[in-house]
Amino acid sequence: MRSTRGSSTGCSREAGRDKLAKKSVGLSGAIAGDTAICTVGSSGDSLEYRGYPIEDLAEKATFEEVMHLLIRGELPNERELEEYKRELSGLRGLPDELKTVLERIPASTHPMEVLRTGCSMLGTLEHEGEGRDARRIGERLVSCFPSMLLYWHHFTHSGKRIETDTGEDSLAGHFLRLLHGTEPGEEQRRAVDVSLILYAEHEFNASTFTARIIASTGSDFYSAITGAIGALRGPLHGGANEAAMEFIERFRTPEEAEEGLREALSRGERLMGFGHPVYTRVDPRSDIIKGWSRRLSEGHEEGYLYAVSERIEQIMHEEKGLFPNLDFYSASAYRFCGIPTEMFTPLFVFSRTSGWTAHVVEQRESGKIIRPSANYIGPEQREFVPLEER
Ligand code: CMC
Repeated sequence: MRSTRGSSTGCSREAGRDKLAKKSVGLSGAIAGDTAICTVGSSGDSLEYRGYPIEDLAEKATFEEVMHLLIRGELPNERELEEYKRELSGLRGLPDELKTVLERIPASTHPMEVLRTGCSMLGTLEHEGEGRDARRIGERLVSCFPSMLLYWHHFTHSGKRIETDTGEDSLAGHFLRLLHGTEPGEEQRRAVDVSLILYAEHEFNASTFTARIIASTGSDFYSAITGAIGALRGPLHGGANEAAMEFIERFRTPEEAEEGLREALSRGERLMGFGHPVYTRVDPRSDIIKGWSRRLSEGHEEGYLYAVSERIEQIMHEEKGLFPNLDFYSASAYRFCGIPTEMFTPLFVFSRTSGWTAHVVEQRESGKIIRPSANYIGPEQREFVPLEER
């Protein structure tokens, strides 16, 4: 799997990737291919999308600008952004056949399964080719995933067939308005927007690599995204934000949290939202979302969850030397925006679909199938014994 880098991209700073710490994560430290989309830097503790530091993007850009950067290759100018937002808003509707399928999915289903099924179903209705290229289908999916999820949610939970045209020009606003049925507050809108920026891309993480592997076989775009949704769902990857919330909400005070956490650690439990497959000292996205969680907690009736989270962070640092990853403070930030826990990982899907799209396009350009080798640990070659003699 490991290859010497460089000739194709001439990116010398990547040579430092060989110094990345090895973790007990499959393929840790292995360079599995080239990408020009994103890097965690040579020491593995920073994050850039196409050369732009995540801190700048989260402070100064909107998710739609970041989506344009990832999928179309560059930040848009003002006119391009207006046009792009108009186009994206026009891609939010759902075909009737898809609505029929969504109405049949049981209310008890996890929303990640709804997105997985919805993505696959849309692929049978709006085929690739036929005037649609991968970039446009990626934009279509980002735009209509919130509509899909909330159409299903409202129909199966209260029998309402909602109108998915909200008139909102941002994905964050569109999602919040569909969820709550009211005008989203500015602070909530921007908090969700920032979280979408932070979740948008992360080089060869498990779900992106899944998408790239599927794309590498020459398969269709929807298959790549459907597979990526499946990979993202697990608690060791995107599902960590939901698992973190389930732990945090057990406590009402920092003291209770400290006691509960120490007990959990003494039982050898792993706390989702801490540690990272690549970062060793810090997740550069964590402080950004932590700031939003703190802001949103002020005056909120469940604001104590922020103090609970901070105490958990402190004890995890003292006891395990571990730092929170993006998923940990995303949990409380989303809670303060009134988002149900089971929609946390779907929000990750809305956003990461932009990164997945960029990677599928890039992988296809390379034209190579991904097929690593295995270290065989099974029995030596042996003689076949016929059925009647076994
Ligand atoms: N909670 C408790 N202990 C932990 C945790 C944790 N979250 N993570 C690592 N450890 C311990 C682990 O038990 C081990 O202890 P010991 O040496 O005593 O056996 C030590 O730390 C090193 O563990 P490791 O498995 O070698 O850690 P790693 O850095 O190689 O693994 C990880 C990284 C992400 C698999 C792991 O930290 C983990 O399972 N974290 C929780 C899942 C999570 O939050 N995932 C989201 C990742 S970020 C967003 C995304 O990409 O989706």
